[in-house]
Amino acid sequence: MSELRFDGKVAVVTGAGHGLGRSHALLLAERGAKVVVNDLGGALDGSGASTGPAAEVVELITKNGGAAVANADNVATPEGAEAIVRTAVEAFGRVDIVVNNAGILRDRSFGKMTVEEFDAVLAVHVRGTFLVSRAAFPHMKEQGYGRIVNTTSPAGLFGNFGQANYSTAKMGLVGLTKTLGIEGARAGIKANAIAPIAWTRMTESLLPAEFEEKFTADRVSPLVAYLAHESCETSGDVFSVGAGRVARVFVAEGPGWRTDDLTVEAIRDNWEAIIAEEPHLPTTLGEQATASMKAML
Ligand SMILES: NC(=O)c1ccc[n+]([C@@H]2O[C@H](COP(=O)([O-])OP(=O)(O)OC[C@H]3O[C@@H](n4cnc5c(N)ncnc54)[C@H](O)[C@@H]3O)[C@@H](O)[C@H]2O)c1
Repeated sequence: MSELRFDGKVAVVTGAGHGLGRSHALLLAERGAKVVVNDLGGALDGSGASTGPAAEVVELITKNGGAAVANADNVATPEGAEAIVRTAVEAFGRVDIVVNNAGILRDRSFGKMTVEEFDAVLAVHVRGTFLVSRAAFPHMKEQGYGRIVNTTSPAGLFGNFGQANYSTAKMGLVGLTKTLGIEGARAGIKANAIAPIAWTRMTESLLPAEFEEKFTADRVSPLVAYLAHESCETSGDVFSVGAGRVARVFVAEGPGWRTDDLTVEAIRDNWEAIIAEEPHLPTTLGEQATASMKAML
């Protein structure tokens, strides 16, 4: 089988100074992509800034014979996001791939979480992904081609104690990915999301010590590269990935139950049918609404 390569393609990887983003950037560059290594260079909670982490990854890529430029802008501001994409266009002439990976944590139990902690996490994950994708979108539309890979999390898909801000943000990215998949279709732009588990500075205090050896970042990046490749036809989907296992994650709906006379008591009395798990998998709001229409016939 032929190797999947990215020669002639230009990729932006946000938050690529550490952890997963660093690993994605190294893999894409190794396979021929020209890479903008973006990283604000702050702490895990988003405080501070440094040009060091992005510059170090660029140095490593160029030492290995690849092409990369560093960018230390903030994904969460419109000016920062525009500057990140401008870096790609000025250095390499185009932008084909955006990997939205930058992220921070401000964990706190729900009862103690502050508005500032909630907003700060949504700003980087949700606004950041929206803003960088928005900056790249016109370039992709014009060239009739683009690949966007967003980073959600099992914490958002399934919930996690102490992460009300983070899980809200990460589930928000599922909605954004699905809508980008729909809106990008006519312009040849595909958008998907990964929900990784990997041993990084973000998780080293949360994961069991035995995860360090198996849940390496380089056991996540091949999925990012595949979703970023022109041969990938999938769009609007979400995949969990960790320790070499990859699985599609569905948003599903059960068969449901309906009546012409919906009352509070009717809901109580038919609860088992309402919560029944025989999923079908709508891929658009229209498909979901059609199922409701059919139930009326
Ligand atoms: N590690 C895991 O198990 C795991 C699980 C689920 C989701 N994720 C997600 O994967 C992504 C990468 O996380 P990681 O584990 O590699 O953590 P990490 O802390 O090693 O990497 C995140 C990077 O994003 C950068 N960053 C933060 N805010 C930024 C901003 N405003 N602009 C630009 N760069 C910024 C940081 O400097 C850092 O280098 C995050 O979105 C995270 O939420 C990770």
